[in-house]
Amino acid sequence: MLKFTSILALATTATALAQGITQANFTGTGTIHVWNSSDWRDSTPADKVGCLDASGKFINPLNDSACAVFTRISAYPYTLSAEGGNCTFSDESQEKNTDSIYGKSDHAWNCFKPFTAGIYDELYTIDGFSHVFLCQGDVDCYFDAKSIPSPKSSSNIWPFRWGSQQMGITPGHVMLQLVWNKIADLPKGEDSEKIPSPRVSLMKGGGEQEQARLVGKKILG
Ligand SMILES: *[C@@H]1O[C@H](CO)[C@@H](O)[C@H](O)[C@H]1NC(C)=O
Ligand SMILES: *[C@@H]1O[C@H](CO)[C@@H](O)[C@H](O)[C@H]1NC(C)=O
Ligand SMILES: *[C@@H]1O[C@H](CO)[C@@H](O)[C@H](O)[C@H]1NC(C)=O
Ligand SMILES: *[C@@H]1O[C@H](CO)[C@@H](O)[C@H](O)[C@H]1NC(C)=O
Repeated sequence: MLKFTSILALATTATALAQGITQANFTGTGTIHVWNSSDWRDSTPADKVGCLDASGKFINPLNDSACAVFTRISAYPYTLSAEGGNCTFSDESQEKNTDSIYGKSDHAWNCFKPFTAGIYDELYTIDGFSHVFLCQGDVDCYFDAKSIPSPKSSSNIWPFRWGSQQMGITPGHVMLQLVWNKIADLPKGEDSEKIPSPRVSLMKGGGEQEQARLVGKKILG
């Protein structure tokens, strides 16, 4: 499991919790939609600006038939794969987010093979979310791209990073969320019920506004 340094208690209503998603929603096969969002609490499907292709790149096709189908591996390390291979932010051949103060050493998301995925490549969701938003690292549920691509181009995506010198999205870039759009369960016999929950949940109660946005840790410096 990922080692979270923050345990969050977030303000949500009991009703929202009752209708919230669970770990079982992020299993099987699905497409990954991209939403233009800087706050999961008020983002809706109307914020959809595209999806991911089989290499994990952000595309904005005229219809969803170009969106790749991903599989969440039902056993450790519970990572995502597509036709391109396993997906990771650690492929050093990928473009870095050089415009970003805090993300300039991050490599773009890429799905390729052969690549043996590890636990740090896992994306996860959080029980109680209104949609199956995907998060990575230490509860960072947002991503960064240079722009929303035109129908015939693609954009790289990087993790969202922030700190005192760059409090929001990289200037000129767009802040995004990834949303699992489940298509089917895996064939019977592959038990995906056992995927462990992250040590974070949306509990009824108070919570710091910044934590509630789930933007990951503030980077010092
Ligand atoms: C993305 O959302 C922001 C905030 O709602 C908005 O200002 C911006 O115009 C949107 N960008 C695009 C390219 O749709
Ligand atoms: C989706 O777009 C592709 C390529 O532009 C096209 O070939 C296909 O007919 C479209 N499908 C639908 C259902 O509109
Ligand atoms: C993808 O990663 C999984 C889990 O580490 C590994 O078992 C599998 O062989 C990898 N697949 C490819 C095509 O590299
Ligand atoms: C989550 O899974 C439940 C049970 O299968 C389903 O009813 C619900 O629509 C799913 N929610 C989302 C947002 O996909």
